[in-house]
Amino acid sequence: MSKSNHFNDENSNHSANPTFDAILEQRLNRRGFLGKTLSGAAVLGGMGLGLVGCSSGELVGGNTLTSVATPSAIPGSTPAAIPTATPSAPLPSAPPNPIVSRLGFGAVAKNTLDKVTIPSGYSYQIIYALGDPLTAATSAYKNDGTDADFDNRAGDHHDGMEWFGLDAAGKPSISAADRGLLAMNHEATTDENKSSFFIHATGGTASLPRPAAEVDKEVAIHGLSVVEVKTTGGKWASVPASAFNRRVTPLSDVEIAGPARGNALLKTKYSTDGTKTRGTINNCGCGKSPWGTYLSGEENWSGYFYRVAADDTNRGDKSVVALKRYGRNAGSASRHGWETGGSDDKYARWNISKIGASIDGIDDYRNEMNGQGYIIEMDPYDKSKVLKKRTALGRFAHESAAFGLPVVGKPLTVYLGDDSRNEYMYKFVSKALWSAADANPSDRIATGDKYLNDGTLYVAKFNADGSGEWIELSLNNPLIKNYATYTFADYADICVNTRLAADAVGATKMDRPEWGGVHPVTGEYYQTLTNNSNRDINAASGSKLVPDSANPRAYADSDGNKAKGNPNGHILRTKEGAAVTSFTWDVYLFGAEADMDKATINLSNLTDDQDFSSPDGLAFSKNTGICWIQTDDGAYTDVTNCMMLAAIPGKVGDGTSKTLSYTKADTSQLNVTTQVGAAPTADTLKRFLVGPKDCEITGLCETPDGKAIFINIQHPGEGTRMADIADPSKYTSQWPSNAGYGAGNRPRSATIVITKDDGGRIGS
Ligand code: FEO
Ligand code: CA
Ligand code: CA
Ligand code: CA
Repeated sequence: MSKSNHFNDENSNHSANPTFDAILEQRLNRRGFLGKTLSGAAVLGGMGLGLVGCSSGELVGGNTLTSVATPSAIPGSTPAAIPTATPSAPLPSAPPNPIVSRLGFGAVAKNTLDKVTIPSGYSYQIIYALGDPLTAATSAYKNDGTDADFDNRAGDHHDGMEWFGLDAAGKPSISAADRGLLAMNHEATTDENKSSFFIHATGGTASLPRPAAEVDKEVAIHGLSVVEVKTTGGKWASVPASAFNRRVTPLSDVEIAGPARGNALLKTKYSTDGTKTRGTINNCGCGKSPWGTYLSGEENWSGYFYRVAADDTNRGDKSVVALKRYGRNAGSASRHGWETGGSDDKYARWNISKIGASIDGIDDYRNEMNGQGYIIEMDPYDKSKVLKKRTALGRFAHESAAFGLPVVGKPLTVYLGDDSRNEYMYKFVSKALWSAADANPSDRIATGDKYLNDGTLYVAKFNADGSGEWIELSLNNPLIKNYATYTFADYADICVNTRLAADAVGATKMDRPEWGGVHPVTGEYYQTLTNNSNRDINAASGSKLVPDSANPRAYADSDGNKAKGNPNGHILRTKEGAAVTSFTWDVYLFGAEADMDKATINLSNLTDDQDFSSPDGLAFSKNTGICWIQTDDGAYTDVTNCMMLAAIPGKVGDGTSKTLSYTKADTSQLNVTTQVGAAPTADTLKRFLVGPKDCEITGLCETPDGKAIFINIQHPGEGTRMADIADPSKYTSQWPSNAGYGAGNRPRSATIVITKDDGGRIGS
């Protein structure tokens, strides 16, 4: 695991809801379940799997699968006619171009070089790195630890990113491919012993208290940025003087929107009526709404806050339960010690201990952490619009916000994941019905109010037979209303303490739900499950979990870091059922090393051109239909740096069921039945890119013509020790300076753009 990644690995779900122990009972009836599942899946996809002994049209999980609409097309077949896009239509309705049926490049070999490796016939350019100026008046980045003014520079750890086109007049355009805005997250910093050492001249102060000047810089490199980019004669560059350029930091004023706005849980010294908070932090996955805004997921925000050891006693109320469930035990140290920066309120807000005498918390920051953990919405085209936190989408370690394909007159669906060990998958369904006129609205944030402030939040429960249930999270559910662990005051309380509500209904604990994406033709949802060190066939209680159908593997890597559990991760996909509460699922791909056992670990038969570990970022090209898969790995990095692969997936149910038989320590058998998607071929899954040393590959967006894709190289050189700051030869990476970009030797997170030398679409 890379150094910072333990912040991604929080583990506070000790809820009693069983994972699959109860479901394992069903293995007694496995044959009956399997016959139904596979026949149902075959009917679903209309693919005629030719199964023996299965009668089609049976019921699965009580749902009549035959009534589910078949997808309009699958990759490789002729796409169904899709309405011609008007200039104001959303991208998901754009004409097929067509969808790529065979990957048209040579696979990139695994490697540990300190460079970006891409296929022959492709080129990349570095266009936007940590510290790059966002105003004409800002000086070039010196990259020696003396730079300041990060409110006007690119932040650190570039992550989720979306493209927002601009026409020649500087107006929003869905078709522009040569000029646009990149809106992106700046998740975190490369740090050790509290200090973001690469941005301080001699590495900074490792002990408390932290100097205010260091804290101010570290805070400012978090948040979001908007940067204009354009291409001239084939050369892409950012536009430092663009009036669109914007920084949002953890100190920016933002509004609370949706059910929790004005709730008692949001009242602080800064916002005594609970309607606003300051900023956004540890933003990771992202999304783009059908009305043209940027959505950003607040992920590992919990670790930035400090609580005194006596805080449980001082509080003496149910807030203690909620704080523990979100990973903030009393006495928890904060990641950077920002609360020690001085007496100013901007430092004090990081100490969430109950200090004041008030009943409601308006004289301290005891409720401050309730202001983080949401999907936050930004209008990238309009700096005058305040950002809004969409509390209806729940509060957890958010990653991406992936919209189902919009259908006029139907509710919008947003798929969401909670990235910590043993956490859950969610979906939000809007109350408002989609109107095509909203694809190009005059007020994009007001349109967000319309669709994202009112709706229903569901959490996923996976059944062993390939069916699943979306369970509504509301006080209508007696399991939530009468939950013994925590008494919910109202619906806002569910929106703020979503994990507790999901615990109450017995949702399925997953192997760290990272990003998700929706297939632009089938509408099926793909969810990366990056890894989980908590899977253990001998698990009896606590945070360790026995493998289950949706998270079926527990094993030990025999070489490299020899991680245990589910070290290589998998990608699961879901297909909506006839009812809003039903779905079917399978596992599209299992991450693995190519030489691992194909019967028990390398279940997708990955070859050396395809093998990967710890899938994290995932995004579909709406132009080519290619599914881009990015890794943030610590398990296979003895062999290869993190990477990006291109995939052409099929659909839910295109594979088979498989039962994994484990022998437990007490010699009893544990049989886990899972649903394995059809194995990829050499034409449908290939490694496209390998990054420099100690980075992760994350964030992906494209120009609408599919001819340029933008990705982020996050935290190259993360393994560098703070003590080596003065000796560049000891940095584990010197990218991008070793690729000719910028001053100094210190490694920097950066955005690159990839184009095909013949001007074609990427991956085709
Ligand atoms: Fe920021 Fe879950 O990765
Ligand atoms: Ca290994
Ligand atoms: Ca990530
Ligand atoms: Ca990560």
